[in-house]
This record gives sequence, C-alpha cells and structure tokens, in this order.
Amino acid sequence: MKLWAGRTGGDVDERLSAINNSIGFDSRMYKQDITGSIAHATMLGKVGVITPEESEQIVAGLKGILSDIESGALQIDMTCEDIHTFVEATLTARIGTAGKKLHTARSRNDQVALDIRMYLADQIDRTVDQAKDLVSALCDVAEGHIETVMPGYTHLQRAQPVTLGHYLMAYAQMLLRDIDRLEDCKARTLILPLGSGALAGTTYPLDRPYVAELLGFNGISMNSLDGVSDRDFALELLSDLSILMMHLSRFSEEICLWNSWEFKFVTLADNFSTGSSIMPQKKNPDITELVRGKTGRVYGDLMTLLTAMKALPLAYNKDMQEDKEALFDAIDTVDLSLSVLPPMLRTATFHPENMKKAAAGGFINATDCADYMVKKGVPFRDAYGVCGRLVRYCVEQGKTLETLTLDEYRQFSPVFDADVYQAIDLLTCVSQRDIPGGPAPRRVLETIAHTRQRLG
Ligand code: ARG
Repeated sequence: MKLWAGRTGGDVDERLSAINNSIGFDSRMYKQDITGSIAHATMLGKVGVITPEESEQIVAGLKGILSDIESGALQIDMTCEDIHTFVEATLTARIGTAGKKLHTARSRNDQVALDIRMYLADQIDRTVDQAKDLVSALCDVAEGHIETVMPGYTHLQRAQPVTLGHYLMAYAQMLLRDIDRLEDCKARTLILPLGSGALAGTTYPLDRPYVAELLGFNGISMNSLDGVSDRDFALELLSDLSILMMHLSRFSEEICLWNSWEFKFVTLADNFSTGSSIMPQKKNPDITELVRGKTGRVYGDLMTLLTAMKALPLAYNKDMQEDKEALFDAIDTVDLSLSVLPPMLRTATFHPENMKKAAAGGFINATDCADYMVKKGVPFRDAYGVCGRLVRYCVEQGKTLETLTLDEYRQFSPVFDADVYQAIDLLTCVSQRDIPGGPAPRRVLETIAHTRQRLG
C-alpha cells in the first residue's frame, strides 16, 4: 500500500512500480533521511506543532531504526517505493500514532532535496580526503626525484628538461584546485530546502534556521519553488568530479605511456599490474587504462543530469528522481579511482636512467645552448639560428650537443668555450630555471612544502 493511497487507492500496476520505485538506489541515503527527520521532528516539538512527548517518541523511534539498520537487525524492505516511505512506515509500525505525525509540514519534495544535499556533503568530505591522499603520495614520490632529469614535452615531442619531481607536482597542483572546487561546492550544497514543502511552503510556523543549525547547514533557501527544484549543487558536483576525473585520466595516460617498452620510465608493481591470457610476456597497466576509461562515465553522468534538468518547468518533476543514479555512479567511480591511484603510485618503480637517456637524446638543451650564447653577447634570434644549425648538424652526424667537440662548436660560432658543456648539462639546465614554480630542485622542494601545507 502506498503512502499516497488516499487519492488513487494505491493499488498500482507492478510495471508502474518498476519505473517509479527508487528504493533500489536511494536506500543508500537512509542515514541522511533519518538524521534529517530527527531534526525536523525536534523542530516540530520545539515550535509546538507536535507535543514534546510526540517529538521525543519520534526521535527515539528514528534513532532505533538507524541503529537497527546499521547493526543489520533491520533490513530495508526493497518493495517499498523509496527510502522516505520505508522509514516513515517502519516508524509508524514501531511507535504507532506519533509516527504518523512526522511528515507534518513536510513533503517528500523538500525531504529528498534535503537528503541528497546531506549525502553529497558527506561524500564531498570523503572525496576531498581521498584526493589529499593522492596529493600526499605525489609529494612523497616527487621529493625523492627532485634531481631526476627527464624530458618535458610539447606536442609529445621532447622540448625542455624538467625533473620527475617537477612533473608529478604539476598533478598535485591540479588536485589542489579540485579540492578547492569541491569545498566551494559543499558550501552551496549545505543550504536547507526543508520548509519548502511540496512547492509553496507551509502554513505551520516552522523554525527553519533552527533545523539548519541542527544539521550543520550554512543557511536556508529563500524561495520554496527553488528549494524543491534546485539541482545546481548536484550539477556543480558532477562538473567538479568530471574535471577531477579529467586530471586523473591525464595522469593515467602518462603512466600508460611511461610503462610502455618504448618509454620504460616506470614499472608498476606486480600486484598492481595485470597479465594477458595469451601473451606470456605481457604486464599491463589496466589500472590506469580503467581510470582513463571510467572518466567517460562521469562525463556521461554530468550530461545525464544536465539533460534531465533542461527545460523542466518549476517546481518538482519526477524527472528529478533521475539525479540520484547519475550522482551515485559518478561518486562510486571517483571513489574507486582515487582509492587505487595512491598505492599504485607509491609502489611503482621509476627508472631515472631511462628518463635521463631520453632527455639526453632529444636536444632538449638547445634552448639553454642559445641562452649560453646570449650570455656571451649574441642577440637571442641569432643564437637561436646558430643552435638550430647545430642541431641539424648533430642529426646528420648522429651526435648530440653533449658529444660535439669544441672545434665543431667553433665552426658555428667563435663565442663557444669549454664552459658550454657545463651550460648544457641537463641538471644545470634544470637548476638554472630557478624561479618560483620552476623545475630547479630547490624550487620543487618549495612547491612540495607549500603543497603539504595546503593538505593541513
Ligand atoms: N523518490 C523521489 C525522488 O527521488 C522522492 C520525491 C517524490 N516526490 C513526489 N512528488 N513524488 O525524487
């Protein structure tokens, strides 16, 4: 029998239930639903809409339901329409008439808006902690590689030397911004919709700020139509999670590339690698391929909700029930991705010698060679031309800038001296990029310290 059996008789076709019921996915919000109801009932008692005894009875009943669900003594009945229905029906079965008063001055429309806000705020805390764990792993690994020279790329062509430490810290900065975005989103999520009723508020003298305070919310919504129909906060979270996954996907792609035989910059630990059913030699980076692949799901979840919300007239429409599956899928995907990357990174073995080899063979110190000439008084554009010709000569001769003799250098310009070798040494090239945010080892250490401070 349905809560709303009064108007229709509530005897519904099972095919309606199949499309209408949401308990299959919204049952995961049982804790938020019960906690929200406890605050609502406490407030109803305080303002005198129900008696203090009724309020206490309801609160005690709800607390019992919560602890029984958590201990496993009470199973959520999956034949109910949704989690709100289940909790209210269970309460009434347990405490009788007072239970029927819980829903006074409330609609499932403002109730579900509250539950989802509470659930997402809790989840944001978890995601932030997980993101911090990854940032911390990046800092730890980076710290051990502040002098590990590797090529930095543009167009996936070797460009200028950086270090592995500097490279990894780039991802740490992205994640810090992801954390900022999530915390910002949480502030807007914690706005109380309860009191909006079905859409037009309620005639009861509710104390909404008191409920907000009980639940640790930042404030109350200021328009009842908006209170029940706003899902901006959910879209904002899905956008933030999409950007976060995009960062994880880029990082994962680096690991996939670096783990290849062509790069050989990193080897994943055996217990974080997979094999092939036919090719005995294979050790695959499935983890990072999956994180890269799962990014598409989260983008899809964002698109699902954007599309569900598009053109919905005010206020609540059942389309909005579709918010939850998209949100939960995105949350689960991010959760899984963030839980697997830190241990994978911490157990991976990087190969500094291969990175150095790649850095040495790519003329990535050509800019530094030109800068050397500039310091000797040659205008940059002329120095650029000389170095370009030097590189072409090297390619034709199968040499590198490091292996050219001084005589060969001097055929291109008389300003070259023996100190050119020091100037184009890769670690020198990196160390001389000694500006805040640069790859010089001491600057990377500064960035690591600054980043760790942000982790609190
Ligand atoms: N399961 C519903 C949802 O998730 C709860 C709200 C139901 N409201 C209603 N007017 N039928 O949106």
